[in-house]
Amino acid sequence: MAQLEGIETDLWPSEVAVMDVGPRDGLQNEPYITPTAKKVHLIETLAEAGVTSIQITSFVSAKAVPQLADAAEVATAIKRLPGVRYFALIPNEKGYDRAVASGIEDITLVLSATETMNRNNINMSIAESMKVAQRLFRRAKDDGMHVRADVAVAFVCAFEGAVDLQIVTDQVDELFALGADQVCLADTTGRADPRHVAKLFALVRKKHGSERLAGHFHDTLGMGLANTLAAMQQGIAFFDTAIGGLGGCPFTPGATGNVSTEDVVSMLSQMGITTTIDLDRLCGATDLVKEFSDSNLPSAYYRSVRSGNKGSAADG
Ligand code: COA
Ligand code: ZN
Repeated sequence: MAQLEGIETDLWPSEVAVMDVGPRDGLQNEPYITPTAKKVHLIETLAEAGVTSIQITSFVSAKAVPQLADAAEVATAIKRLPGVRYFALIPNEKGYDRAVASGIEDITLVLSATETMNRNNINMSIAESMKVAQRLFRRAKDDGMHVRADVAVAFVCAFEGAVDLQIVTDQVDELFALGADQVCLADTTGRADPRHVAKLFALVRKKHGSERLAGHFHDTLGMGLANTLAAMQQGIAFFDTAIGGLGGCPFTPGATGNVSTEDVVSMLSQMGITTTIDLDRLCGATDLVKEFSDSNLPSAYYRSVRSGNKGSAADG
């Protein structure tokens, strides 16, 4: 074996946090409406598997996303484990009020990097969304809430194509200036590539450091893990993933699921990077999804384990 001493081989963080967005990003995109009790069971099972951040639902219009019309019921029914953060996505002040009334303490405010997507998704201009952010982040500070801003289509927009890096870095600057605790750059379409991801994260990290940044990658073109790795090489240590690889956005044509939680955790574990998640128990959560999902779950790790391939290459 070649001598590696003195050569920097691991630029990656030693520990990575994962937020499972399956109960929101995943279930919003399924053709059926998942019963509330099954959502609650899934969220509780994810928490028991060691997932310490879970995006449990969104407080949006039931006309826009009927699959998540039971947001308040889900948020109030779940048995909360200490040390676990239960996030809800919101688009506006009405969503904020509903989330607070349901006991939510961690919110992700969504806006988009392009005007067409923002209009399509939440019927606002980007300037209007920034005004909402300004008011809500101020309220959230007073309410003791943790607020994250999610920049959808931060890389490639289904309507406007590749997004200029400067547009996104300006948005990130503005969101932090308005008081966001964390900003997540989302590849909502799943059309980003690792070089694009590395460039954008390098730019934002240079200005804001890596601690308050997160990545959210869909696997539409099979680059979800590669994009995760590209962001990790920029020091990013917080990623959104979805159980089973569920996911997609009803407002962005052609997008498929998020990179799966199982595949990301298995990759990290094989690389010697710590997470809080127990993979065996995580696959128990995937079993639940498989019971009620119409989709053929894309998670490679889950398929491999359930077809009898136990353990990983790291085991020898
Ligand atoms: N939760 C529930 N209902 C809401 C709401 C919220 N956060 N915000 C607005 N509404 C209701 C209004 O009360 C109104 O109800 P009414 O028709 O009974 O009077 C109706 O929705 C329309 O309100 P308006 O402010 O005109 O909203 P809109 O029609 O411009 O739609 C959104 C804006 C944001 C509510 C809608 O586009 C939406 O919910 N988008 C969700 C997008 C999403 O979840 N995308 C995937 C995640 S990225
Ligand atoms: Zn998404």
